[in-house]
Amino acid sequence: MLGAAAIAKCEWPVESNQQVFDEDVSLFTDMSLMPAERTILRRLAPRIHEIDMLDLGVGTGRTGWTYAPLVRSYVGLDYSPRMVEAAKRRLDGEPGVELLVGDARDLTAIDREFDFILFSFNAIDAVPPEGRREILDQVRSKMRPDGLFQFSTHSLGALPFDTRRPLSHRYAALPGYRLYASLAGIRYARRIREINRGLDVPTARRRGWDVVPSMSHNFRIRDYYVDPQFQVKQLLEHGLEVVAIIDNKGREVKLPHPGRDPWFDYLCAPV
Ligand SMILES: C[S@@+](CC[C@H](N)C(=O)[O-])C[C@H]1O[C@@H](n2cnc3c(N)ncnc32)[C@H](O)[C@@H]1O
Repeated sequence: MLGAAAIAKCEWPVESNQQVFDEDVSLFTDMSLMPAERTILRRLAPRIHEIDMLDLGVGTGRTGWTYAPLVRSYVGLDYSPRMVEAAKRRLDGEPGVELLVGDARDLTAIDREFDFILFSFNAIDAVPPEGRREILDQVRSKMRPDGLFQFSTHSLGALPFDTRRPLSHRYAALPGYRLYASLAGIRYARRIREINRGLDVPTARRRGWDVVPSMSHNFRIRDYYVDPQFQVKQLLEHGLEVVAIIDNKGREVKLPHPGRDPWFDYLCAPV
């Protein structure tokens, strides 16, 4: 076990996000990769069997489900002990797999370097801004010279939030889903209007980022939203250069990119 000290170090907003993740383990059952993740997996494919991978915020093992059997070695880490337990159950028996409880802000206990480091599904957004910078430094220090780092992060272009509740493609075919969705949509729109009233979007745009209640986890998480151009600059400050930015449909985008995309995946290399 890696992380008791690192976990104890977290301050209130993170503790609160961390607790939500620990409570919401049962939400993470879908094991499929998202389109942006498939795009990047295709890029890695020619050398996938030679890759030593570190999967930060591994959750219940969604990305490990695909990657662990493909890569040479796989280390998954999460600050929620219950997430790690679930990932262990899922990836049990897979050779070369190690799953650790620990905080991505302090990777000093891992004394190895990696070819590919992943922090998927906007998990990096759950730490406060200073913590994000600590993570970027830690990640940079664990990358091999030709290594790659992929993470996804919410986009400031999504603010103010759209008041229409996104439909779940997973449940769309279930009987009664449409009725449920339209009733749930009324409550959702009310909550989003309230959140939007609390935003100062012009200031956030000038600064390049904001921390706002996120609709995931029933608004109990506070997430970082960032302007992609600011994100590129921030990465450079931590010795990371952006190789590609991928949208939710798995397409590469070039900046500036106007639009209301909820998040992007960034693929980075050491400068
Ligand atoms: C949205 S879930 C994503 C889980 C998984 N990566 C996936 O894509 O399905 C975010 C995960 O990141 C973990 N997490 C968030 N901040 C973390 C941190 N600072 N250190 C380690 N894990 C963290 C949470 O506990 C949670 O399991």
